[in-house]
Formats: sequence, C-alpha cells, structure tokens
Amino acid sequence: MRILVIGSGGREHALAWKLSQSAEVKKVYAAPGNPGMAQCGECVAVAGSFLEVAEKVKADLTVVGPEAPLVAGVVDEFRGAGKLIVGPSAEDARLEGSKIFAKDFFRRYGIPTAEFVAADNHDEARRALGRFRFPVVIKADGLAAGKGVVIAEDRAAAERAVEELGPRLVIEEYLEGEEVSFIALCDGRDVLPFAPTQDHKRVNDGDTGPNTGGMGAYCDSRILTETETERVLDTVMRPAVEATGFTGFLYAGLMMTAEGPKVLEFNVRLGDPETQPLMHRMTTDFAPVLESAARGELGRHRLEWRRGASVCVVLASGGYPGSVATGVAIRGIADAEAAGSTVFHAGTLVGAQGLETAGGRVLGVTAAGDDLRSAIEKAYEGAGKIEFAGMHYRRDIGRKGLRRYGVGGTG
Ligand code: AMP
Ligand code: GLY
Repeated sequence: MRILVIGSGGREHALAWKLSQSAEVKKVYAAPGNPGMAQCGECVAVAGSFLEVAEKVKADLTVVGPEAPLVAGVVDEFRGAGKLIVGPSAEDARLEGSKIFAKDFFRRYGIPTAEFVAADNHDEARRALGRFRFPVVIKADGLAAGKGVVIAEDRAAAERAVEELGPRLVIEEYLEGEEVSFIALCDGRDVLPFAPTQDHKRVNDGDTGPNTGGMGAYCDSRILTETETERVLDTVMRPAVEATGFTGFLYAGLMMTAEGPKVLEFNVRLGDPETQPLMHRMTTDFAPVLESAARGELGRHRLEWRRGASVCVVLASGGYPGSVATGVAIRGIADAEAAGSTVFHAGTLVGAQGLETAGGRVLGVTAAGDDLRSAIEKAYEGAGKIEFAGMHYRRDIGRKGLRRYGVGGTG
C-alpha cells in the first residue's frame, strides 16, 4: 500500500514514522512533509490540490494531520473522486472549526460539557459575564491554534478578554479536574479508542505562562481507569459518532471533574504532541487499521500498546508561543537518537547551515520505558543532547503522572 500523509508537523512525522514500519506499506509520501519525514518517506511539494498530489503519487490511502484542510473539505473532495481517506467531512470538521457550533452540538446531544453562553457581539458577551462566577472562561469562536482561550480571574480581566477575542465568543463555567486527551479512530459507526494521553499546554513548568499548542505529552494507560474509559465512550464518543456518522480521528479534550468527564473541546484530528507518544507506544500495525477505518470496516480491529509509558518533550524556539527567530542551526539529533530517543521534526528545514529551525515548536524528543519514570528520564536524556540558540523546553513533562499514578506504568 502507498500512503500519503497530509501535513508537516511533529504529529505527521510520528504518523509517517509509524506507517513506514508497516509490513503492508510499500512507501509513505508526505505533502508537504518536513526533513524528518523525508527520512521515512518522500516529501512532495503541494502545487495544486492534495487530491492532485494523491493521484500523482498513486496513493492507495491518505491520512490528514492538521485541521485546516479538513475544514476546507479535503475529505469530501477525495470521496467525490473515489479515493480512500481518513478524516471527517467539512460538515463534521465544524466541531473543531467553531466553538459555538460545538457547544450547541454538546447541548443538543446531551454530551457533558461546561455550562455556557454563546455571544455574537461584545454587548451580549458583557451581559453574559454576570451569569458566571470567577474565574470564568472566554473562548474565541473560530480556529485559534490553542491560543483563543482566556481564563479571567475577575470582571476587569474578563472585559479585556471580551474586547480582545470577540465579537463571536463562548463564555463558560470554569471546570476543575485533571485534563485528559481522549482520542478515537471512528469509521462512521465504530469507535476505536487510543490509550489516554496528557498534554502540557502552558509554556512553563508547573503549568504557568501562556497557552501553547502543547509543550509535551505522555501516554500511560493509568491516566484513565477502565470504568472511566467506558464512561467517556458511553457519554461522549459514541453519542457524537451516532449523531454525525463521524469518520476520522475524534479528539475529546476532557476535564475529569468530580461529576465525571466533561468535554472542553472537540478536535477532529489527532493531537499534536499527543500523537508522538501514541505512535511510539503503539505495537499494532497501524496501516491496516487506517485502511479499514477509511472503508467503514473498523469493527474487528483492536489497538495494542507497549508495556509502560511513553513521553514526548517539545523543544521550542526562543520567544515561543510569541514571535520566534528562525533559521537557527540545530545540533545533536543523532546523539539523542543514539541515546535511545526518537526525534520527531516539527518546525525544521534544511538550509545553508544544515538543519535549521523554521517555527515555534521545533522538535519532539520521544522515548518509551517500562515505567513512566524511565520513559521521562530517557526523553530528557535525549533532549539534553540537542542544542540550538534560544531553545527552551519544559522540565516537568510527565511529572504530574508520576505524582498521581506513581512510578510504575501500565503492566
Ligand atoms: P480549549 O481550546 O477549549 O481546549 O482550551 C484551551 C485550554 O484552556 C484547555 O486545555 C484548558 O486547560 C483550558 N480550559 C478551557 N476551557 C476550560 C474550562 N471550562 N475550565 C477550565 N479550564 C478550561
Ligand atoms: N495538543 C493539543 C492539540 O493538538 O489540540
């Protein structure tokens, strides 16, 4: 099978890396890909449409990484041309593309979520503020790469956020609990859950500083008990798929509250960086699973995971999540890999100095271990071997898991 991966980030590199190990995959193509993906497949420039790329490379199956092409209708286009693709229709991609649409959807189908008011303009938003206690959460309606959310501690901060993020907003109740990324592959009917992961959204240690796209993630099955997983499937994932006939990756950002799991957001794609530890830990051959999902025949598949845990530490450019310098030389990837990590590329390119930085999140150093502690140690050993000017990363990825679940790991 020839597989095309759409995208160019760490998530897509992890997917391409995993698929390139499949006995059933002859070749992996990436559009447009990145220098890491060029090591496990062939990168193809995107001049026209993704469909044209798929036809040119004779892809038997296409997998979409980022949300933008999904929202733009790439899946509908492929299906119209009779080509196999994993992802949701543009209609279902609105679950990520619009927070107001998503919140109305949760309400309509009884999916547990924070209490909320949708506002179309600043006046409505200001009036709605009176109905909530502080802190209150204010979210911009459209796609914002994880940066359109403000948790306002008081009225003044809330009014500032309304000015900055408006006019179309969701204002919602602040929820307390552990955040979990719950991702499942769906074929319109069946729901195949991945192992649970936890992302680290704030830029600094101890969950401080501004929100980012994600500074690291770990995968450890102890993040959810079997009972909790069943509850998420029953109250969130299955009702959503039943209501929509959703195909592709459905990612529920959950808050595990005292009252049970509540959905913070739906994404209609794999998480980044969650995909890096997921692909690293998965032992199942993923290519046939994806093909069955695209055909609507997911039923018989199960996913298996290596014992223990996996961890991804994101190395970011100076200034991230604000504006960053690019074109900075990167050293030490081979040393990190020799020490047992897998280094997934995100914002890199090959320039005059060899491998250079080309974005905010640059690399994802990923490692597995028989327990969470050894996975963390191995990932940080790898991260410590990589250098570029301005590089910064969190030192506490997975630490919360150690505190909550102990050293051990999934047996
Ligand atoms: P979102 O883009 O909706 O996932 O929000 C980004 C981040 O803001 C989440 O990962 C949470 O850490 C935080 N957040 C969003 N909504 C809430 C909420 N209702 N209560 C508490 N924290 C929230
Ligand atoms: N890591 C969060 C996301 O992919 O949305």
